[in-house]
Formats: sequence, structure tokens, C-alpha cells
Amino acid sequence: MQARKFIVRCLLVGFVGMLGCEASAPFVHDSSIVPNPQFQKFEVDSYLECNGAWELMMPSDWSPLKEQWHDWLTTDFHSESGPSIPLEIERVEGLTQEGYHLEIRSDRVLLSATEEAGVFHGLTTLRLMLPQVQTDAVRLPCGVIDDYPRFEHRGLLLDCCRHFMEPDYVKRMIDLLALHKMNVLHWHLTEDQGWRIQIDAYPELTEKGAWRTEKDGTTHGGFYSKEQIREIVAYAEMRNVTIIPEIELPGHSSAALASYPWLGCTGEAMEVPNDWGVFKDIYCAGQDTTFVFLRTVLDEVMELFPSTYIHIGGDEAPKVRWEACAKCQNRMRDHGLHDEHELQSWFIGEIGQYLESHGRKMIGWDEILEGGLPEGATVQSWRGMEGGLAAVAAGHDAIMSPTSHCYFDYPVESTDMEEVYGFEPVPEGLEGEGRILGGECNMWSEHAPQALVDSKVFPRMVAMSEVLWSSKETRNWQAFQNRMDKHYDRLDAWEVDYGWETVPLSLDWRTSTDDGCIQVQFEPAMKGVGGTAVFWPVNDVRDEVAFNLQDSAVICEEGVIRVALTRNGEEMGGGLEFPIAGHVGAFKPVKIGHAINEYYPGRGVQGLSDGRLGSLDFRDGSWQAAQGENMMVEVDLEKAISIDSLSMQFYLYQDAWIFVPDSIRFQWSIDGVSWKGNWLVNSLSNGYSALEPNDAQEVIRTSYGVEEEARFIRFEAMNPGPCPDWHDAASSSTWIFMDELVVHQKH
Ligand code: ACM
Ligand code: ZN
Repeated sequence: MQARKFIVRCLLVGFVGMLGCEASAPFVHDSSIVPNPQFQKFEVDSYLECNGAWELMMPSDWSPLKEQWHDWLTTDFHSESGPSIPLEIERVEGLTQEGYHLEIRSDRVLLSATEEAGVFHGLTTLRLMLPQVQTDAVRLPCGVIDDYPRFEHRGLLLDCCRHFMEPDYVKRMIDLLALHKMNVLHWHLTEDQGWRIQIDAYPELTEKGAWRTEKDGTTHGGFYSKEQIREIVAYAEMRNVTIIPEIELPGHSSAALASYPWLGCTGEAMEVPNDWGVFKDIYCAGQDTTFVFLRTVLDEVMELFPSTYIHIGGDEAPKVRWEACAKCQNRMRDHGLHDEHELQSWFIGEIGQYLESHGRKMIGWDEILEGGLPEGATVQSWRGMEGGLAAVAAGHDAIMSPTSHCYFDYPVESTDMEEVYGFEPVPEGLEGEGRILGGECNMWSEHAPQALVDSKVFPRMVAMSEVLWSSKETRNWQAFQNRMDKHYDRLDAWEVDYGWETVPLSLDWRTSTDDGCIQVQFEPAMKGVGGTAVFWPVNDVRDEVAFNLQDSAVICEEGVIRVALTRNGEEMGGGLEFPIAGHVGAFKPVKIGHAINEYYPGRGVQGLSDGRLGSLDFRDGSWQAAQGENMMVEVDLEKAISIDSLSMQFYLYQDAWIFVPDSIRFQWSIDGVSWKGNWLVNSLSNGYSALEPNDAQEVIRTSYGVEEEARFIRFEAMNPGPCPDWHDAASSSTWIFMDELVVHQKH
């Protein structure tokens, strides 16, 4: 999305070449290696001049990899016109599995490691020190790097199910992982919306389960043949990346049930879903045939993937079908299981034992703790850090990928690069620190077809690579940003279509001296950001007002600020919009009657009365939400005012368990003791009902005419109760989202 300096530099190199002269200023490495090595020291005035081909020398049993490593090192750069440069690779005892020692001398490069993985990382570092595009003269400063990773598990989850990704795209992502010294591709291969791995014993899984009809009638899908998977696994292995396949069970299995309905409790035919969420049809735990199926699938999976670990999912498995299934209930009775959580634990345990009997280990999402953690299981903690910590306390291993820092499907509005860089996988004072194997960034693809994946993974994954590789003591955001400035040139050269580090511009909202107005100040959050902003009033689009980003603006009505952005004078893709309402209640004293939710705090108590409105992105930070609870906000206008109308907006997105309230009430009072106002029951002004099925994802506005004097204004919203039977998360608590209580004064 950002400007491509790469093109400019290639042209310059080409131009110098045409004139037939040597580049006058050689490329000099500037120590901007990411992830930051554990130790590096460079001399000031002594260099290795490189303008010839590398001459690799290495122990004979490593030589099968020589060609591969040579390619890795010389892709895209180096003229090979001068004298060759000795690159001596030596095996030494005592370095860690992935550790290496790299020495640049004025006449050669020495690289030592104990294992091949260390050599690979050393070569990757060398590759980062060299220019990423063809150039004639390169100068490496003499010096030493001693390096090894902090964590053994440094992963990226790629969800190739919600949206299929081409095999070549997966390979390219493996290259990019390797270039950042990440060593695990967690490959999410089965889901509700698509089964993506060829299984010979069950051909319908890919004939039917890999394809879905979208709402617009088009077909989306695809799968990886065994041949393609073998090729991708081998490709990854050459780059020190282990692929851990994820075969989801017992939930997120609609595509399998659509292929073979007998796998579910009801046996009813179903289609591969074309919407997102958590679905209640899951593998039946009472039928032995389910386990015959899963063992056969896992046999074929283990035959394709040599990884020690196999991920079995285990998350988000509603229990409604099991509760109503005679076979599942029989299974519980036969095994003395007290509830459906224990049945899930038994289910996962059966699969774990099967994997163990084949010399493999199981990873599951933190829900596998519920009902008892199966023997030998490693927990991947996603709903916060707690699941991982509980696993460690129980003597198990854990991988950390909490939604707070590691969900790269979330927009930068909720998780920006600085937050990712601040991620600490090991809480202070934890006993059993060594049981935290590392972390992963999770790239779920519901809202990211392949064309968008780069822009979500990058640049945030670069920050994660440093969190997981480099030492905690040397982590420094400022220094990382400086390294990042240089690293963008590399990302450009590798043609990574990276997105933003953060929302490039924020607005500071404050009270204005003009009653009924708010003042906003633009604050660039990235270097070099500029642009223009326009305010469009909601009631009269002809009256738009333009501002400079350096100035503050006073807004006294409702509308939207639209910003077109530039960086270093060049247009940046994707403008910004800020819905806003200057009104007489903004920044007046507020009380709320619900708890602030840690995930949707909505700018705290004042957030329901600060002039900033929630947008169509429910994670934009403006929405305040509560799950299974009623919500209440009360504003004191500090003097009686003649009111015209009151309004509030809600979010509706039933797939994400977000419903409109069952009933709402606007109230007003002169003295804060006696109140007027009415309940509006089970229907909002524009006709939405609380628990009726609805496909929409939208902001719903409701307004109420008042025409009376009032000083105190109160608004209440009643939670509609659990997700109803027709919902895929039937019986789970619903959310309500709201923002903001707007008070319109009579003029
Ligand atoms: C998950 O995000 N459901 C693991
Ligand atoms: Zn069942």
C-alpha cells in the first residue's frame, strides 16, 4: 500500500550500469538486522569488499544443502563479476539448535553452527546485510554476530479455509517467514467454510467440502492435493520452517459434516456455510464411526506432515447437539462423564492418545482445558494468557497467541505494530517459564481473501519476529523503528504489499468553550503523514467544511470527518473516516450502570458522551459493549436545557453474537429524582427486533423526540437474553454494543 522506493532504486542502478561505470558509493551494511541479533559488534573502518560470487565451503554431510543455501544467499543480488569471496561454514559443538556465530573478516566470512538450522539463520542474517537488489559494489563492515532465538516456537497461523490461498502464495509466505527467522507455519486446513486437504479415504471432503456457494451465487473454494502438500512441506523444510497442520475437531467441522452428514449428531444434510461464526453442528461424540473417520484422516495427515506436533483445534465447540443426542448421552454414561465439557475432554483425549501412539504430540486451543486437560497436550492460549498459564501450572507446555496482541486479522485500530512489539509471552515471575514454547501471530481469513493477507501480516509480523527471537532486555521500540525504516526497503524488494503500522492519524477529542460543540485535533501517528480533512454534516452535505491537518476543528453538529492521507507527500491508500456528533451532552459528567468490558471499553465511562460515534468497525475503540448484561448511561447537563430529541446507536452483527437490545428507555429529569420517559419494547425505531434472525452487519440509530426542559438524561438498554435456538451459538450470552447518547438541544 505504501510508496515503492524499490522501483526508484532499481532505475538508478540500471542507469549507472548503462553508463558503464562502477557505482561510486558502495552499499554499506548499517546493522539494521531484524530480528535484532543477541550480540553484534562491528568495526568502524575495516570492510570486506564483495563484488564476486560466494565460494561456499562446508562439512561434507551438510553439502546436499549447499545448492539450496547458495540460492538462498544469492537471490536477487550480486553481480558475480569480481573475485570470489570465501564463505567458510564450520560445524562446532555447543551452540543451540538454531544458534550461529557469524564473523565478517576483510578477506572472508566465517559461519559456525552446531546444527543446519543455525547455518540457515546465519545465512539469512548475511542476506539481510546485503542489498536486496542487484548491485555491483558491496561493503560489509568487519565484525561478529552471536545469535540464537529466545523461543523455540515462532509461528504464523495461516487460515487457508475461510479463504483459499494458492500454493504459490503459501510458499511465498514460507520464504517471508524464513527471512524473519520464524520457524513454524501453523496451517489451518479444515473449517466450517471449507475442507482444504485431500484425503483419499474420504473423497467427498474435497469434492463437496472444499467448495461453498457465496451469498451472491458465486463459488469459492479449492484444496491442496497430496502432491502439492508434499512439495510445500519440503519447501518449508529447506527453509527451517516446520508446518504444523491443524485438523479442527470437534467443532468448526461443518464442511466435513456437509460432505458426510453421518458425522454429525442429527445426520441431517447440510451445505458448506457461507457465513462466519461458531456453528452448533459438530462431530458426534457418541458414534464410533466418527473416530474411525478421524483416525483415518489423521493417518493420512501424519503421512504427509512429519512435524512432531499436530494441532487438533478444540476451540468454540457448542454443546447443544451433544446435549440432545442419545448416542452422545450414552457415551457420557458409559464413561462416567458428568457433563458435555468432560465429553469434549474425553473426545480430545482419544485423539491425543491416537497421535501419541504414532509418536506425535497434540496442540489444542485453550478450550481443551475445559473438562480436564488431556495427558501430554500443549495448549495454545488465545482467549488471553490465562489458558497458557493454567497449562503451565498443570505441568504442560503452552504457546501464546492472545487476541490482545497476536490477532493479525484484527485491524491496526485494535492491534497496531507498537502493541505487537510490546507483547510479552512470559508473565513476570512465572514458575515454569521454560514451558512457554513461544508464540504465534494468527491470520484468520474471514475478512481477508489472499489479496489482503500481506497487508495484514506485514509489517506487524516483523515486530513479532523480534519479540520471539530477540532478548527481552534489548527490546526497544525506538531502536526497532529505526531498524524498520531500513527494513521497509527489503520488504519493498521482496514485493510485500504491507499495510499500515498503526492508524496513521488519530483525533484528540476535547470539550470546546462553545456549548454544544467539541474540539478535535489531528495527530499524525506515523512520520511524514499529512493530508486534508473534510467535515460532512449528516443533515446537509452541501455544507462540507475543509481543514488543514495541523489545525484543530470545532464541530457543533453531527456528521463525518473524511481524511485523505499522504506520506512524505505521496498518496497513501485507504482514507480514514471519523463519525462525530457535536452536541450539548458531550463531555458533561457521566455515570454508567454496567461494567466496562476489557475488550470493548469504548473510551471508558466518558466514552458514551464524548462526541465520538462508533463506526461500522465494531473494534474501532469507540463502541462500549456488555455481554449478558444490561447497559445504562446517565448524563448531567449541569443546567436545565430545552431538549429537542435524544438518540443512541447500536451495533447489529448476529454472527458475532451482537444483538440489538430487547427493550430500551430514554428518560429525562429536571432534578435527578423524578423522571419521565418510556420503555420501547422489543423493537427499535427502524423496525429491528431483538432475537429475530438477521444477516446484517450495521450501525442502527434510534431517536426519540422529547420537547421538554431537562438537566439529567438517562438511557437504558436491556440485554435480549441468550442466543436463541436457531443461532449457531444457541444458549451463549449475547452482546449489546452502544455509542453514544446524543442530546439535541432545541434551537
Ligand atoms: C480462535 O481464534 N477461535 C482460536
Ligand atoms: Zn451425538
